Amino acid sequence: MNSRETMNQMETKNIGLRGIVVADSTISKVDGEKGILIYRGYDIAPLAREGSFEEVIHLLLDGELPTPSELESLRREMAACRELPAPVVETLRSLPKEAVPMDVLQGMVPVLAMYESEPAAANPAACRRLALGLICRLPLLLSAWERLRGGREVVAPRADLGHAANFLYTLHGEVPSEKQAAVMDTVLILHADHGFNASTFTARQVASTRAHLFAAISGALGSLSGELHGGANYRVYRMLREIGAKERVREYVNRTLDQGERIMGMGHAVYRVTDPRALILGPMAAELAGQAGHPELYEIAEEVRRITTTEMEKRKGRAIYANVDFFSAIVNSMSGIPVDLFTPVFAVARVAGWCAHYLEERFGGAQAKPAIYRPKAEYTGRYCGLEGCRWIPLEER
Ligand code: COA
Repeated sequence: MNSRETMNQMETKNIGLRGIVVADSTISKVDGEKGILIYRGYDIAPLAREGSFEEVIHLLLDGELPTPSELESLRREMAACRELPAPVVETLRSLPKEAVPMDVLQGMVPVLAMYESEPAAANPAACRRLALGLICRLPLLLSAWERLRGGREVVAPRADLGHAANFLYTLHGEVPSEKQAAVMDTVLILHADHGFNASTFTARQVASTRAHLFAAISGALGSLSGELHGGANYRVYRMLREIGAKERVREYVNRTLDQGERIMGMGHAVYRVTDPRALILGPMAAELAGQAGHPELYEIAEEVRRITTTEMEKRKGRAIYANVDFFSAIVNSMSGIPVDLFTPVFAVARVAGWCAHYLEERFGGAQAKPAIYRPKAEYTGRYCGLEGCRWIPLEER
């Protein structure tokens, strides 16, 4: 059977591509029924508990956990590329201070491409170098933007700090404690990859056209910004603040569901049980909120989770559960991240996964798919037969 015959045989309609396998991938696996997420074979829980984001970057980009000397050389490589070209900082300075941070990231990634000598390099080693550079620079872009919009000067990264600590240092201008850096490290690890989610699929779709890495990552950033994807986390925080007290949760949940609206941070397109990342972030959120003297924030969240789960079961016959964004909202706010930077922090983590997927899409060898993604839509518009509708001159319309 030739490839066209195979494709004809595959022709089927599935609105939204749910459950449709569109490629092979060796990067991460999501088991929605059992609530399992693995990166290159490793379960997310020990990675988050024992590993560092740098080790996860190596795992995602290079396929294996690094040896001590590989990790050392990765850290050196990352320290060397942790710098923004001066004109990029000047461009950031020229943007309106009210700009939406995700728009800033999405717009600035192609600007970074303009300062690369070969942004469209088409061999795996050069693309991997570009990918690592982008992973290093995305948090710098975000920190620089946050400082400039607040009228503060950009803080230069330090070679002696790791990725998560540098991010917090360049954001706040103070070296974080070990605990603060470890919390950010865990957040980054947990958000680094997640199968063929919307933004990753966007990145792969762009990569499949052989567009360069920066175009693919910029597209992915746009996809992540939506409220049904990465844009949910800061809405969770606003929801918790709006509710304000545990006693008001039931009324809020019922009113939201009665109006046919969604409870942010609840439900998932794949998980049919609690998101394994929420299982790790939940206890962290409880601890951090307690330590910061805001235990009520976690208590309200728990109540929202509990009541939404049971209400959905009652109303739709199927419960929905907390997803990654539900508790990351509390963890991020307790780490001093401004609310409108929650989704960009997600991007700072997910860029590692996007880059790994870009490399796999471009150089992954034989895959069970044609070179370029090309689904089709069923045309349901006007149809006047094979000749097309009669042309009506402008003055007759
Ligand atoms: N609040 C209220 N209702 C919800 C809901 C939520 N958070 N999540 C799902 N539902 C409803 C859906 O509207 C659907 O109802 P219907 O059958 O009457 O149309 C039903 O529950 C089943 O939805 P399901 O198929 O499980 O989810 P989905 O794949 O359509 O949507 C999300 C998945 C993530 C988009 C959805 O759960 C959502 O909007 N969550 C809130 C936003 C969010 O937290 N996004 C971050 C995801 S990591």
